[in-house]
Amino acid sequence: MTPPPEIEKILFTEEQIQARIKDVGAEISEAYAGRELKLISVLKGSVFFLTALARAITIPVKIDFLAISSFSSNRAAPGVVRISKDLDESLEGEDVLLVEDIVDTGLTVRYLLHTLAGRQPNSLAVCTFLDKTPRRLVQAPVRFRCFEIPDRFVVGFGLDYNQLYRNLPYVAVMKL
Ligand code: PRP
Repeated sequence: MTPPPEIEKILFTEEQIQARIKDVGAEISEAYAGRELKLISVLKGSVFFLTALARAITIPVKIDFLAISSFSSNRAAPGVVRISKDLDESLEGEDVLLVEDIVDTGLTVRYLLHTLAGRQPNSLAVCTFLDKTPRRLVQAPVRFRCFEIPDRFVVGFGLDYNQLYRNLPYVAVMKL
């Protein structure tokens, strides 16, 4: 696929992404061997990663979805997100893996871990496709990650700019 003109450079190719997801899927399968795993996808961006990751996991998985929205446009202010679409099923007694496309400031993951921990899962951990550690404002425990990235605006493989470019099969830096 020819990159659109708004793309500055490709950070991770489709082949690199598939190879890395296969490795992380194997890592997860080993960590939870003998158990069932519930994957929770945070809409919308993580759906692309979730489907690829689920296929790379060899133990039984269930999936569920939630969506969050911001109370304010100031994402730097803590406690500004809320669940706008909740999970369909209970987490009680489940081994739960929260699947994100990107952890940036860490505020979303911190909020979700706090909220979901109150639902009595057997275990709760985070797997992210991209980890933008230079932007972290709060501690966010990431157990599994595919790639660490610098503080650049990236799109593709689920990540958007004004809702566009989610369908690019690679991750690219936008010209901004
Ligand atoms: C992204 C990502 C996380 C959040 C991470 O979602 O999916 O949920 O931002 O940012 P944080 O670490 O600074 O809290 P986004 O708001 O872009 O929504 P989308 O998945 O629908 O694109």
